[in-house]
Amino acid sequence: MNEAHGGWFTPGQIAGFVGLLVLGAALGVGSYQAGQRLAGTGGGAVVAAASSAATPDGRVLYAGSCAGCHGANAEGAVGPALKVALAWSAADFRHAVLDGKAPEGRTLGVVMPRFAATGLDGAPPTDAQMDAIRAYLTTLP
Ligand code: HEC
Repeated sequence: MNEAHGGWFTPGQIAGFVGLLVLGAALGVGSYQAGQRLAGTGGGAVVAAASSAATPDGRVLYAGSCAGCHGANAEGAVGPALKVALAWSAADFRHAVLDGKAPEGRTLGVVMPRFAATGLDGAPPTDAQMDAIRAYLTTLP
């Protein structure tokens, strides 16, 4: 059987390779689109540039600093869904994100960064940025 192909790949092997290529392309396009959804119009550079503007863009900040753990739509991933936290006051929300303290006195697990210490977007976080993130979260489905 293999002799007839004289050392070339069998049709089965070729089909396998083509299948892998198609799968690879699909995965590539998928992650590219996911990246675009998170970043808005472009790649990482846009995330950094846009969020340091005078009026903080909650969507960009969230995509750049939170979505990786809480999910693109705050549906939860490594970190929990953020629906519960949205019921907190703006001050409580800031306190949790900045210092890892939930309103009921609970200390958040160490996986959740203390943004007051780590900084946000390469600078000390501002209340305006926290509020922008919170406002953006309320727009999510
Ligand atoms: C490295 C992963 C990671 C990143 C990045 C991250 N978080 Fe978290 N976050 C977590 C985890 C894990 C918890 C759960 C901690 C616990 O309850 O012990 C959490 C908890 C929270 C909570 C409390 C939720 C609740 O109901 O108790 C809020 C609010 C929150 N994160 C907001 C944010 C915001 C806003 C950002 C971006 C500025 C962010 N997180 C970035 C992992 C992360």
